[in-house]
Amino acid sequence: MTASPPNLNDHSWLTKLSTDSQETAAYYDAWAEDYNQTLAQWNYQSPTVVATMLKQEVPPDGHVLDAGCGTGLSGKALHAAGFRRLTGIDISQASLDMAAQAGVYERLIQVNMQQVPLPLETDAFAAVQCVGVLTYVPDTAAILQEFCRVVRSGGLVAFTQREDLFNERDVAGVMKTLADKRLWTPVSVSKPQAYLPGNADYADKVRVIYCVCRSA
Ligand SMILES: C[S@@+](CC[C@H](N)C(=O)[O-])C[C@H]1O[C@@H](n2cnc3c(N)ncnc32)[C@H](O)[C@@H]1O
Repeated sequence: MTASPPNLNDHSWLTKLSTDSQETAAYYDAWAEDYNQTLAQWNYQSPTVVATMLKQEVPPDGHVLDAGCGTGLSGKALHAAGFRRLTGIDISQASLDMAAQAGVYERLIQVNMQQVPLPLETDAFAAVQCVGVLTYVPDTAAILQEFCRVVRSGGLVAFTQREDLFNERDVAGVMKTLADKRLWTPVSVSKPQAYLPGNADYADKVRVIYCVCRSA
């Protein structure tokens, strides 16, 4: 199967749940120019939901890492929530180029989040958000532990996971393990919520869970 969408209306590749980084990068590169428009058609609300959660706990001058920033929808939501210091990382260079056009990030870096440690300093951020990305990063423990490293003590780690993968990858168990290691304290785990109501492959089939933890 080709990594690029055969046409811009066919996004059935998403249902494959690929964790092949190069294939994923190629797919998002090909989609980058139209991604924002497509996601608006699918009524994608997760960036706003997560930015609203962070706004309640993180001061607006706090530096936030947007991990898997894509074309910048999640950074724009943070900016709309009042955050002014944003770093974005993503594997898709074409998406990063679109994100640069959003004009809300002070730094954008091409990073493969399957490779840890991330090229980011310890305790560099007041918060990390990771929205719509962990589908593609199968080692949940490795990436969440890495988020704990780059967020300073007392900062927040907010992420989403699809309900099916939340169960399959035992995200609740990973959260507990990191709590047992005293790396963070879980703050909230939402009930499964609508994810992409305007996409027939997702609407009443795939829901999303929002998680927030406080770095120790
Ligand atoms: C559904 S998009 C979400 C983008 C953005 N957070 C948003 O809410 O619009 C998933 C993003 O994850 C990125 N991604 C997938 N695998 C990755 C990896 N291994 N490392 C870094 N980014 C990755 C893709 O390039 C894509 O931009």
